[in-house]
Amino acid sequence: QSKLRARSDMEVFVGAFVHSTEENPIVILPGMVMGVLNTKIEFMESIEELDHLKAEYGFTDSNIHYMTPGQFMMPGLVDTHIHASQFPNNGVAMDLPLLEWLQTYTFPTEANFSDTLFAREVYSKVVERLLRNGTTTAAYFGTIHLEGSKILADVVHDKGQRALIGKVNMMRNCPEYYRELSVQESIRDTEEFIRYVKTIQSPLVHPVVTPRFAPTCPEDQLASLGQLAAKYGCHIQSHLGETQPECNWVKELFPWAKSYTDVYDSMRLLSEKSVMAHCIWLGDEEIYTLRERGVGVSHCPNSNLSIRSGLCDVRRLISHGLKVGLGTDCSGGYSASMLDAIRQSLQVSNVLALERDQDYQRLTYKEAFRLATLGGAKGRTLGVNQLVLNMEDRIGNFEIDKEFDALLIDVTAPGSAIDIFSKDTIEDKIQKFIYTGDDRNIARVYVAGHRILDLHNRNIH
Ligand code: GUN
Ligand code: FE
Repeated sequence: QSKLRARSDMEVFVGAFVHSTEENPIVILPGMVMGVLNTKIEFMESIEELDHLKAEYGFTDSNIHYMTPGQFMMPGLVDTHIHASQFPNNGVAMDLPLLEWLQTYTFPTEANFSDTLFAREVYSKVVERLLRNGTTTAAYFGTIHLEGSKILADVVHDKGQRALIGKVNMMRNCPEYYRELSVQESIRDTEEFIRYVKTIQSPLVHPVVTPRFAPTCPEDQLASLGQLAAKYGCHIQSHLGETQPECNWVKELFPWAKSYTDVYDSMRLLSEKSVMAHCIWLGDEEIYTLRERGVGVSHCPNSNLSIRSGLCDVRRLISHGLKVGLGTDCSGGYSASMLDAIRQSLQVSNVLALERDQDYQRLTYKEAFRLATLGGAKGRTLGVNQLVLNMEDRIGNFEIDKEFDALLIDVTAPGSAIDIFSKDTIEDKIQKFIYTGDDRNIARVYVAGHRILDLHNRNIH
């Protein structure tokens, strides 16, 4: 039947593709032809099959994009942790450690999102910034405000990005002007938010239950949020084990708990649809619990360095079988670019290697690429898929039948920062893009088969 659906609406790409699989962090496929129909990848074959594919699917040269030798396609980047509401602070206010940083800079900034016009102004720029930088999927934190968080969902939907969107929950250890006033109000607004996002009826936009972190949420709130997530089958996101003072504080606030991780586990907040950011300061038992529950970890190296939270040993998490992805964590991290997250994850791993013994297994650039797209380390329990955000295995690489979330990269784009020479191989070009490329090299962005950005006419959507 697929052949009948095909014809003129099929988009076909000819050239080099790079993606990750469970077996290989980077697979380079030069000389290929890929067919995209509606939202999905229909076929991926050698260029020698082109004529035969034309006959089989009924497409013509007008459907084909021939990539230049300076171009390749890669999967869209997945930002597993970002605060859309903190963009006014990107690149400023990194002089204080986490807990002081939150009180001094972050809460006052987020409080401004009671103003819905301001929310729309900021969120529009955030989503455009991310799309320009090739982030096709993002897990967003909004603020505590119901209306503002709905606006974030609307903006993401309008601009065609794939996302999890969270209205933040918090009601203690934060300013009176920026907190939810009761568990009842918190749950009512969060439930309304979940229902609102579901009424958008987009397969791309999903609500995520978002307790800020244990210190700002009393037990009854955490427990109610766990129930709410179960009721709607929602994703859950929060912060875990980011700094040592935070971990000590959690011990004081929840004296009954075996660990920080146990606080969330006891409140039914850990599932295969949970994403916990940072996870730097965890004991082995906590890692076992996360693995057992199938929780994904968002590694946010820029943030961890910028506000000096610690060096996350991602190798340890991966080798324990945790699903790991990368996050920008703006504005704890100052860069919205997932290429930056890739590079900083590599630098953190290099620093750890310098500190540890000789056989410390550094992260390779190929692994970091996989962390930013497919996500790393197969969840070995519960049979969960590789992807940290658990999008039901629909995205992350170029397997047949996956959603076509992709970037057309041009390493020879005008004004580009990449230095390309005649002896560069395709692997050189890919590696140079990862280390020295930027949004100028992201010529097109596709989400679910739709071209939502094209640098040639500077269009978003
Ligand atoms: N922990 C609780 N809230 C936050 C936040 O906004 N940013 C970071 N990096 N950590 C947090
Ligand atoms: Fe964060």
